[in-house]
Amino acid sequence: MTPDVRAVSPCELLPRHVAIVMDGNGRWAQRRSLTRTAGHREGAKAVRRIVEACSERGIEVLTLFAFSSENWRRPRPEVELLMNLFLTTLRREIRRLDVANVRLRFIGDRSAFAATLQEYIAKAEQRTVANTGLTLVIAANYGGRWDITQASRRVAEAAAAGRLQPGEITADLLHRYTCLADLPEPDLFIRTGGEQRISNFLLWQLAYTELYFTDRLWPDFDGEALDAACAAFASRQRRFGQTSEQVAGVADA
Ligand code: FPP
Repeated sequence: MTPDVRAVSPCELLPRHVAIVMDGNGRWAQRRSLTRTAGHREGAKAVRRIVEACSERGIEVLTLFAFSSENWRRPRPEVELLMNLFLTTLRREIRRLDVANVRLRFIGDRSAFAATLQEYIAKAEQRTVANTGLTLVIAANYGGRWDITQASRRVAEAAAAGRLQPGEITADLLHRYTCLADLPEPDLFIRTGGEQRISNFLLWQLAYTELYFTDRLWPDFDGEALDAACAAFASRQRRFGQTSEQVAGVADA
């Protein structure tokens, strides 16, 4: 969890892990006098496109914010539409994802989902668990605060059971209880749709992530737009708390 200061070179051109807030489906539809449903369907097509683009470029992990803990507050028909869309997309795409060697994984509190969706999520994860290509993480009923809370609760349980002492609780230890602990931390965060906020996405994991915001609406996001985000990433100097001179390797030790 401690930032890898060996990985600070601006020449680290390709992000290993890209995390995306897919915003703008509703506005995309509104601008075309279409229903929000049509916007979300088009958003699902963009998901397929970006999964392929990430695989082709050799990105190791793609994490997509599909449904936040707060999205339950949307009108009930829209929530139902999104749930149906997740299930139908999963059913339709799982074979293609498996053949493409994609490992699928879900993070978030899945207990709130219908039993059919929960079962299908478990099956899809199981089916692709041994795949070695892109790891596609779908954050569904996920919230960064939820993640930190569930990690803290489990650490407290371990302490109460005498398996660890309070003095042993460090950031590295807590990290091991968070959702993406076994994967590289996100290098690049992208938010489409023009808003510039994190909206309770990977709060813990984004500590050293490069942030990139684009006005492009999610259904219009494609490989070219991904390349523009990666180019912006490649031009940044990641310092992880060091000075730019240290990073450039010219400072005294
Ligand atoms: C935000 O746009 C989008 C969502 C809350 C849902 C994301 C869902 C998809 C991209 C569809 C399918 C996804 C998977 C993983 C199969 P918004 O509705 O808030 O847009 P707006 O801000 O323009 O109203």
